Amino acid sequence: MTTPSLLILPGDGIGPEVMAEVRKIIDWMGAKRGLAFDVSEDLVGGAAYDAHGTPLHDDTMAKAQEVDAVLLGAVGGPKYDVLDFSVKPERGLLRLRKEMDLYANLRPAQCFDALSDFSSLKKEVVAGLDIMIIRELTSGVYFGEPRGIHKEGNERVGINTQRYTESEIARVARSAFEMARKRGNKVCSMEKANVMESGILWRDVVQEIHDAEYPDVELSHMYADAGAMQLTRWPKQFDVIVTDNLFGDLLSDLAAMLTGSLGMLPSASLGAPMANGRPKALYEPVHGSAPDIAGQGKANPIACILSFAMALRYSFDMGEEAARVESAVEKVLADGVRTADLMGPEGGMAVTTSGMGDAIIAALDTSL
Ligand code: IPM
Ligand code: MG
Repeated sequence: MTTPSLLILPGDGIGPEVMAEVRKIIDWMGAKRGLAFDVSEDLVGGAAYDAHGTPLHDDTMAKAQEVDAVLLGAVGGPKYDVLDFSVKPERGLLRLRKEMDLYANLRPAQCFDALSDFSSLKKEVVAGLDIMIIRELTSGVYFGEPRGIHKEGNERVGINTQRYTESEIARVARSAFEMARKRGNKVCSMEKANVMESGILWRDVVQEIHDAEYPDVELSHMYADAGAMQLTRWPKQFDVIVTDNLFGDLLSDLAAMLTGSLGMLPSASLGAPMANGRPKALYEPVHGSAPDIAGQGKANPIACILSFAMALRYSFDMGEEAARVESAVEKVLADGVRTADLMGPEGGMAVTTSGMGDAIIAALDTSL
């Protein structure tokens, strides 16, 4: 068996700091579990712009296409706000998603017991929460044409286009139904079929795929605005939510906050299987580059570490090792280890980014 390959793109802001903690976990897997990874590292986002004048070098793009999985930290920062739209850090990430054709973005929102007091919602609303948002990631208004800003008479007009083909909807619907079968067997599909034609098509195609291929899975449809309301009212009614690129962007931030901290949530972006049977894959924390705390050892590395755990599960078929990492994270939280973002109103002593990584390593050691 060939050694699994992993391309690490730490990116900007807190990206490099949190990725350094993931490196500890990768090294631990090699040393203590005999699981070696062929790890390479490269630049993305503002870091790539600084080095090459582009947020993603063609060589990096080519490498990303070749490896078994990409692990990304975060991109962006105020320093790059002045750049032309075409070379902004975010374009690097969007190019990776588009060219690797990572159409299914898995964003779990799970409330850890030790943090159930932490949500801005009541404890009984969020305790034990475990939902999976599957966001379509390569189409919709993020990529639709025509787009741009042009002049009409003496005023400017901004245009973006929401466009979905039947096959784009069908493939992400299948991902959602497959996921539901491994979980609570329930899918809720969200769109705005009341005002958008693309929403009408979305609803029809999801229903057709359900009826033809997944009649055993419970399917419901909701308008996305009502979905946002239901997510805050009683999120535990959901198991898997499938939605488009833009609604998924919004609803996944909302779901993330239900759990108390954006610093906790991982994501996986998956495409079609490669020749070796593994899906094209990119893993990244849901949080951003947090430039305000970058370089201060305050960042929470858990989302990035859990993203690596998702890589173990979805790319490398190492579900047991993934669960080992997830349990180690649960253990340190239960033991009261906290980074600054996880400090409650009662205060206490926060560990640094690397202190959190070390605590997770210590918890992993006790799992052997
Ligand atoms: C996300 C982010 C990105 C998005 C940005 C950084 C381009 O918000 O992954 O949710 O809008 O998709
Ligand atoms: Mg977002």
